[in-house]
Amino acid sequence: MNNLLVIGTQWGDEGKGKIVDFLASAFDLIARYQGGHNAGHTVYLEGKKVVLHLIPAGILHPDKIGVIGNGLVIDPAAFFKELDDLKSIGVEVEAKRLVVSRSAQVIMPYHPLLEKISETQRGKKMIGTTCRGIGPCYEDKAARWGIRVADLLEPSVLREKIEENLAFKNKILQAFGQPALETGPIYEQYKRFGERLAPFVKDVSAFLYEQIKAGKSILFEGAQGVLLDLDHGTFPYVTSSSSTAGGVATGLGLSPKQITAVLGVTKAYCTRVGSGPFPTELKDETGAQLARIGDEFGATTGRPRRCGWFDAVAARYACRLNGVDLLALTKPDVLEGLPEIKACYAYEYKGSKLKDFLSDPYVLDNVRPVYRTFKVWEGSIHHLRSEEKLPAGFIDYLKWLEDELETPVGIISTGVDREDIVFVEDRISRLLGDRAEELLVGH
Ligand code: IMP
Repeated sequence: MNNLLVIGTQWGDEGKGKIVDFLASAFDLIARYQGGHNAGHTVYLEGKKVVLHLIPAGILHPDKIGVIGNGLVIDPAAFFKELDDLKSIGVEVEAKRLVVSRSAQVIMPYHPLLEKISETQRGKKMIGTTCRGIGPCYEDKAARWGIRVADLLEPSVLREKIEENLAFKNKILQAFGQPALETGPIYEQYKRFGERLAPFVKDVSAFLYEQIKAGKSILFEGAQGVLLDLDHGTFPYVTSSSSTAGGVATGLGLSPKQITAVLGVTKAYCTRVGSGPFPTELKDETGAQLARIGDEFGATTGRPRRCGWFDAVAARYACRLNGVDLLALTKPDVLEGLPEIKACYAYEYKGSKLKDFLSDPYVLDNVRPVYRTFKVWEGSIHHLRSEEKLPAGFIDYLKWLEDELETPVGIISTGVDREDIVFVEDRISRLLGDRAEELLVGH
């Protein structure tokens, strides 16, 4: 096993940040392949909360290299703010430790403005985006208007592209009552961004190819979650990138054969931020309790997350789509605070039972989840660090979940700290081979 993909199997916020941070010690490079600063990966470092948005979570390990692939959309101001924030907590990120693709798209000042117009235009059907300009930037990529990182390093190209874009975008902004933007100040600001960004910029595809040839290993860090994928998520209530395994190859310029294993991160209940279908959503006191105990507030926007029971139909779909080899289960300790636990294993739809997920909102809005109810296990798993101490009731629940998802669980997160983690050692060893030793010995 050389390169591992870590992916969220739900609507994001599964707790990938912690898992990536933990596994990172066994890899040489940590690479993001999609999304932008809409993501919020939370890691607790010596009890301190650190939220990463654009920079791969593995960067907190001083000997690792972070990679930002061509599949991302980069807001340079957000990128530098994150670097400065990291520096203020003692994490120095020099250019030799962080590589940015010259082909990644750049979020420009008109992107968030156009996003607000688009969201307002949708009215009640708004997506509920993070308003970071992510969607309009990907739209410009697909429409071939986009400005790429390499363009920031070529002043004449940059000026021309800003002029061309504004000639078009200003018409839209003005039609919706917004003032037109001027080329000059944007050009000056983005030229300066380019100068500061230059040392980080590389041909990421060629760089990774050389690293792989030299025997280095890569941890691919997925952002958002499978159900927010542009093609396979609950369209149109999705993000604008390919968060599934397929995005790795296009988003980094690598052969798909380089993904040697896939780890799916799944939370013991579901959450969703923004609009869109959510079959197991709890709009009652139990949902409020999950939000409270699980501290379910958006890491990027601070918005409260919608909460609901675990949905095995959706998670099974995510495992199938991505070829998940092993699961990391996060936050099962949150369920201990409830009177009973439920998990959905099928949907009833138009009189028949569905076990396969259909991503269309008009189907998902009309399904009735079929639940299995579990008693809360005796004995707490909170802060547990060893497999032998897992309560029998929890093991029964775990076995049910593995059967439903047809995928084994290899990691259980039992609290927010880096060390609050239980490994199913033989499964981790099988997945990671030699790399497992370092992780398991250090634990
Ligand atoms: P966008 O990515 O800002 O365009 O937002 C599209 C949808 O994806 C909205 O429902 C967001 O709340 C959701 N979303 C985007 N990034 C994340 C994330 O990192 N975690 C959870 N939801 C996200």
